[in-house]
Amino acid sequence: MRTLPTCLDGTELDGSALKILQLDRLRTSIAHAYAGNPAYRTKLDKAGVHPNDIATLDDLATFPFTTKADLRDNYPFGFFAVPAEQIARLHASSGTTGKPCVAGYTRDDISTWAQLVARSIYVAGGRPGMKVHVAYGYGLFTGGLGAHYGAEELGCTVIPMSGGQTEKQVQLITDFAPEIIMVTPSYMLALADGLRAAGIDPASTSLRIGIFGAEPWTEAMRSEIEAIFNITAVDIYGLSEVIGPGVAQEYADSQDGLTIWEDHFYPEIVNPETGKVLTDGEEGELVLTSLTKQAMPIIRYRTRDLTRLLPSTHGAMRRMARIAGRSDDMMIVRGVNVFPSQIEEQILKCVALTGHYEIELTRPNRLDEVLIKVESRGYLSRGEGEAIGAELANILKTTVGITTAVEVVGPETIARSTGKAVHVFDRR
Ligand code: DLL
Repeated sequence: MRTLPTCLDGTELDGSALKILQLDRLRTSIAHAYAGNPAYRTKLDKAGVHPNDIATLDDLATFPFTTKADLRDNYPFGFFAVPAEQIARLHASSGTTGKPCVAGYTRDDISTWAQLVARSIYVAGGRPGMKVHVAYGYGLFTGGLGAHYGAEELGCTVIPMSGGQTEKQVQLITDFAPEIIMVTPSYMLALADGLRAAGIDPASTSLRIGIFGAEPWTEAMRSEIEAIFNITAVDIYGLSEVIGPGVAQEYADSQDGLTIWEDHFYPEIVNPETGKVLTDGEEGELVLTSLTKQAMPIIRYRTRDLTRLLPSTHGAMRRMARIAGRSDDMMIVRGVNVFPSQIEEQILKCVALTGHYEIELTRPNRLDEVLIKVESRGYLSRGEGEAIGAELANILKTTVGITTAVEVVGPETIARSTGKAVHVFDRR
């Protein structure tokens, strides 16, 4: 008989068993948050709701949201629901402005998280004994340590490289021969450059599976990375406030969006403006409620990530579509709403261009202007670069509906990030 790793426990539940488990866990978790955390108690009392009001999963919709601002207002530990001495670890997400959002974990939380990342790696095709090169940053960011504990939990050999030091990454990938890499998709492209610079064809390495996340990316980027490295590329999603990576993961055998680990996180999609709960299939903001977290249970957290809930394709847990963007990443250009991913999709359809690009927004004469700088694959003559730039601008006009100036620049001109890429520079 084939034995499956314990990290898959829960994925075999049928729809009704999953709902029973979710309801049971939801009631326990909300009661725990209410009893253990004064901020939640005040919040729920003010909204006139009580943990005992949860009789069905739909009753959650009557509970108030939790936002990033709530976490910041209660910085650093105001959303913890266990005594300080039970906190085994702290992580934090670097806010672009102001204070970071802090996440706390008990020992049990860390073990749950490791199980979920192990499960994620498993459905991505990882197996015990494989080597996993972790190039997500280690530290307060949840990427490195989250991936690390998960890979260890599954029984893999972990290479804790962290982000940056591209030449060293290239050396370790070559010498240690990992089958799996976990890294941001944008830094994966920088690793391709690094390998080529060392005279190595990226398709010739030992890597077979890439588990990419922590930033928005596109189907076009998946095809690009798969072709360059000759690997299977899958999507992993998560956020520090909820746990870190391993909230949802794409199965390698279907590559059809991310299965949400619904036995631990209850998803809803809401209209970002009104907060109204939308039905499955409609696009809106993902809202997550933790079902098993001890140190920092989170009730109806507004992720600001835009996606849709899709029916399950493996067991009973629903999928979500690739994140289309963050509500706060949306650019409004002369009244048109545009996400960077829409531009990336079109850039990568041009065979002469790469996924290294920057979008600069200015407003010189009271009108928005967009300059896209994008790197070409090889060196081009000035005329060739201009022709390709004009063609891309034309395509963006018809597909995305905005007027842009496109400057095609030579290889290695656009700054590489070693973690989450910054594509947009809004100087308006
Ligand atoms: O980025 C956790 C993580 C690490 C996920 C490694 C996956 C891999 P934060 O730094 O708190 O945590 O940032 C969370 O990153 O709300 C999304 O906007 C974005 N994000 C994460 N994964 C994806 C993804 C980690 N697969 C924020 N696709 C989230 C698109 C993603 N965006």
